[in-house]
Amino acid sequence: MKIKVVPDPIQTVPGDAAVLVAFEGESGGPAGKFLAELAASREFTGKLFDTVWVHRPEGFAARRLLLVGGGKPEKFSLRLLRQAAGAAARVLKGKGCREAAMALPESLGGAAAVSAVVEGAILGHWEPDRHKSEKEDSTALEAFAVAGVEAGGDLETAAAHGRALAEAQNFTRELVNEPANRLPPLELARQARELASRCALDCEVLDQDRMRQMGMGALLGVAQGSAEPPALIVLRYRPERAASADHLGLIGKGVTFDSGGLSIKPADGMEKMKYDMAGGAAVLGAMQAIAQWKPPVAVTALVPAVENMTGSRAQRPGDIVTTLSGKTVEVLNTDAEGRLILADALTYARQLGCTHLVDAATLTGAVVVALGHVRAGVFSNHDAFQARVLAAADAEGERMWALPMDEDYKEYLKSACADIANVGGRWAGAITAAVFLKEFVQDTPWVHLDIAGTAWQEEAKPYAAKGPTGVGVRTFVRLAADWV
Ligand code: BES
Ligand code: MN
Ligand code: ZN
Repeated sequence: MKIKVVPDPIQTVPGDAAVLVAFEGESGGPAGKFLAELAASREFTGKLFDTVWVHRPEGFAARRLLLVGGGKPEKFSLRLLRQAAGAAARVLKGKGCREAAMALPESLGGAAAVSAVVEGAILGHWEPDRHKSEKEDSTALEAFAVAGVEAGGDLETAAAHGRALAEAQNFTRELVNEPANRLPPLELARQARELASRCALDCEVLDQDRMRQMGMGALLGVAQGSAEPPALIVLRYRPERAASADHLGLIGKGVTFDSGGLSIKPADGMEKMKYDMAGGAAVLGAMQAIAQWKPPVAVTALVPAVENMTGSRAQRPGDIVTTLSGKTVEVLNTDAEGRLILADALTYARQLGCTHLVDAATLTGAVVVALGHVRAGVFSNHDAFQARVLAAADAEGERMWALPMDEDYKEYLKSACADIANVGGRWAGAITAAVFLKEFVQDTPWVHLDIAGTAWQEEAKPYAAKGPTGVGVRTFVRLAADWV
């Protein structure tokens, strides 16, 4: 999709459609003359994400006008603006529009709003149809303009940044949506290498032998039940001028398929476990945008990529593995594999000199019980750093919520014969998973995002197709961009 900003007022921009946000109770603005009649007939009242077409709109150069409901004006936000643009894009592409322009609402202007509209359009446009021989009955939106925006200045940069961010998020969604037969660990590694050469990043992939030499027994224990070899993907971004000596490590769980291993999962819904690499994909997407945004902090991305299977060499419940850190783990449940691969990746990130760590992982069903599909769970050993990550998430409209991690929970992970067990029993499952990870980050400021409930949406939204959301990308990029 071509993205433009144009200084002209929306009324004068030609094309297949002009798009405006209209609020509940609104009667003025550029859409004013249509609103009274639409409201009187109850056809359109500005309800959030409702849409209505006005054909051959008087006073507009475009062939049609699409009104998108903004809901109650006092509740409107950047996040809703992004989503309204997404809802518009989804309607436009379904109705034969190739060229459209959208205006910012009067209440929200500036760089962040321009960026939000661009992001929304690109995100809304995405469909999980890569493997469909015949695409749904829709046209691609080829050109999308934000109207009433001066070109050549900060706002044009904002549009370019928004585009880079949304395309990165869609790249993540593509990866997450790929089935396990088409995206085994080595293919994920190949994708990372391709990303690196596309974006001038440094990429290194540690293979099984290398990981064995290094002593990554936890990661290899998970991998050994699969015919697909594991990989540890490392991507490096180094700024031209760093704001500090800090070094941010982004770590993402890359389980390309989670059958549960010998502690096998129920058949019903197992197909969804192709998305168990959503954290890893978010890290890769973030690196793509970071390469374009060029934030002032060194960033190293690590994605431990494995398939959790039940082959004859699979690890057994009760096995004891030695992690890269030297700590031993009793694997009481082979389905708690994410924390095992992350334990080694987090240790390695510290060995590489990362001073701050953030991981994203589809780690537990328990976080879905706690927070549903609305917010991701946040855990940390460092309040101030956690506050920065939460602020980044908030600025980018990714909803998250901090959960506690008291020392007392460590009791739950007691093992009779190793340093720690990989599961903590029935209660507080999202917390005990985080407490397990904490053992491997020690004092390094660290934040863990459990995205099991938010990486995949079961229902289509007005502004997004059903399926992978790309959660995490925006928070990671914002965190790096605002680094001080
Ligand atoms: N990948 C799953 C967690 C998950 C569940 C992700 C639902 C997305 C949706 C993880 O590896 C897992 O199996 N966790 C277990 C841990 C348990 C064995 C302690 C779980 O949550 O059931
Ligand atoms: Mn599992
Ligand atoms: Zn898993």
